[in-house]
Amino acid sequence: MQKIIAANWKMYKTRAQATQYASEFTASLRKKSYDDRLILVFPPFTAIHDLCQHFSDLPGLAVGAQNFYPANEGAFTGEISPNMLHDVGAQWLLVGHSERRHIMEESSDFIARKVSSGLDYGFKIMLCVGETLAERNAGKLVSILDEQLRSAIASLPEHIHKNLPGRFAVAYEPVWAIGTGRVAGSTEVIEAHAQLRQVLECYLGKVAADIPLLYGGSVKPENAPLLLGLDNVDGLLVGGASLEAQSFLQIIEA
Ligand code: 13P
Repeated sequence: MQKIIAANWKMYKTRAQATQYASEFTASLRKKSYDDRLILVFPPFTAIHDLCQHFSDLPGLAVGAQNFYPANEGAFTGEISPNMLHDVGAQWLLVGHSERRHIMEESSDFIARKVSSGLDYGFKIMLCVGETLAERNAGKLVSILDEQLRSAIASLPEHIHKNLPGRFAVAYEPVWAIGTGRVAGSTEVIEAHAQLRQVLECYLGKVAADIPLLYGGSVKPENAPLLLGLDNVDGLLVGGASLEAQSFLQIIEA
């Protein structure tokens, strides 16, 4: 399976900063080919259009949105619709990130609605799941991952299951590893990813093997090669270390 290396810029970068990054980034990418990598960038909404224009002639590179509201238009003050994101060139949507689950208090039901509606509107979805440190310490890893993944998939009509490969990815991001410099250990990653694969198999059968599982949480150029070599790790979702073009490029080359 082609490895997915994704950058989540969160609430960082003005348009000017994003454009400067894109110039440096694409100049390096043009010099090499990364046939075995799919590179995704999730910038803030305001930079999506500019990045899409910069990336348009580079294969294997796509732009996504960090959030959306599951309706195409309506009286939803402050929200952004799938239609508007198509309009600026986004192809992927990030759903269920821990910052949205915990800071914005998005529920599993709402996240499930977003997954199903994002797919309906023709987007590719990257669903994030992961336990807090308190949940891990309470022995709830398996039940939390099960609940977060099952609730998102259970809402999908069965006829679309076989079409999910290429349109659906899951990112395991333990909350305690996000932005802390404390990357999950190999055993922890292998255990969590095996659990997620099992839940996928239970719902999707054979196609579960073709759904990429990414790891996210304090990924850096130094730990990326090890993480990418682990069982069931089909890619990386990178926050802080994706904000510098050179450091993200090193992770892509890992
Ligand atoms: P860091 O790489 O900064 O830990 O962030 C991970 C993340 O939340 C990516 O979505």
